[in-house]
Amino acid sequence: MSDQRDSVDGDLGRVLVVIPTYNERENIGPILERLHKALPETHALVVDDGSPDGTGELVDEIAAEDERVHVLHRTEKAGLGAAYVAGFGWGLERDYGVIVEMDADGSHAPEDLPRLLEALTDADLVIGSRYIPGGKVVNWPKRRWLLSKGANTYAKLALGARINDITAGFRAYRREVLEKITQSDVESLGYCFQIDLAWRTVLAGFRVAEVPITFVEREIGVSKMGGGIIGEALVRVAQWGFKHRASQVKRLFTRS
Ligand code: GDD
Ligand code: MN
Repeated sequence: MSDQRDSVDGDLGRVLVVIPTYNERENIGPILERLHKALPETHALVVDDGSPDGTGELVDEIAAEDERVHVLHRTEKAGLGAAYVAGFGWGLERDYGVIVEMDADGSHAPEDLPRLLEALTDADLVIGSRYIPGGKVVNWPKRRWLLSKGANTYAKLALGARINDITAGFRAYRREVLEKITQSDVESLGYCFQIDLAWRTVLAGFRVAEVPITFVEREIGVSKMGGGIIGEALVRVAQWGFKHRASQVKRLFTRS
């Protein structure tokens, strides 16, 4: 296994795992440890939005002792999408060849990362998918499962993208993809950020692959999803879908 990983690292360059945090003080230490057990060479960038529980200060202490750990402090809670965009920018300014998205709360198993990276040898974006054979969700209330399945079905219908888990937050990008798709501003804040970036990747002609993962609901702390996040996704996805269909129709007419 470690041989394979090293060759992946060799081909694709250094790996940076971006982990956004808001009040994850109890989760962040263990997840970084698990990450480095699975992938000892890999760097992590924690993007903390001034967590009141002191997550940012704790990661400062960890980073002082471990050169693989980096911290980006932001002043206020500005949403998952904004945190990731800032983290991607930090990584792109440095020589990382692969940039990974991963939650801090243990829902995404760092032990699955070698498989995601392996799949990146024949893809430009690899998504850790709950909704392909072999993938699953553990400990989600029915309500949350329905919401997630509904969001995926809706996005599939609206966009026509052949991705089974387009809202997933566990993914690995080749740097070239992020360089290209973040050239125009990303305004999405909630989990439509994930749909937004996957859709940009598809439209830009990059290859997307899905590998099955088990998503385990957090045991400590609370989800930050909620509020306007669903509404934002409904509206934005409809807009992207409409724009895409309109351009397809236009192309059809200019061809004939
Ligand atoms: N810096 C920062 N700022 N981090 C944030 C913010 C924010 O505004 N909001 C959430 N986070 C961090 C959390 O601390 C956690 O590490 C990670 O982002 C995911 O947040 P959760 O609140 O645990 O999300 P979730 O479990 O409800 O949703 C997950 O599944 C969704 C799909 O079902 C995430 O992976 C989503 O990205 C995904 O779309
Ligand atoms: Mn979570």
